[in-house]
Amino acid sequence: MAQQQYSQYSSRLILVTTIVIAIVLIVVIWPLSLIGKGSVKTGSSDDADARIQPVAKLELAKATAAKSDGKPRDGAAVYQSVCMACHASGAAGAPKAGDKAAWAPRIATGTTALVKSVTNGKGAMPPKGGAADLTDGEIKGAVEYLVGLAK
Ligand code: HEC
Repeated sequence: MAQQQYSQYSSRLILVTTIVIAIVLIVVIWPLSLIGKGSVKTGSSDDADARIQPVAKLELAKATAAKSDGKPRDGAAVYQSVCMACHASGAAGAPKAGDKAAWAPRIATGTTALVKSVTNGKGAMPPKGGAADLTDGEIKGAVEYLVGLAK
């Protein structure tokens, strides 16, 4: 019995290993094999721009948030420039904006606790959602905006 369980376990391990190797081959080796065939031109800045676009967008979002003209931004503006990067899609396990079930237990802890989580960071969320220049008022506004979407 124990022997059978072990062999079941090891065949599952082999399957998982095979999948991991296949992913590595596809992600790493396949693009490399395209270099030189003309599909991926090394040194072409256009291609590089296209490939880094998702990252560049996120950086852009941060830059926009940092460009404060001194006036406090309202909750919606802060959400769109900082928080949306994770909370619109649910990236990194973030509770998705408007997802009532995901937000209900968090809302139950109260706005003060939620603001504190954002200010200090929680789990995969960096302090202030990664925008260090946000004021306490702006964070509160963004939290209230997010909470409002889930009500
Ligand atoms: C890098 C991705 C990311 C960004 C940017 C981000 N969050 Fe989050 N957020 C998360 C994740 C992940 C969690 C879940 C944390 C956990 O419970 O472990 C979370 C949780 C929360 C919570 C619930 C906290 C709690 O105590 O349960 C609130 C409120 C929140 N975020 C608001 C914001 C606001 C407001 C912003 C923008 C200023 C923001 N988030 C930006 C990833 C992000």
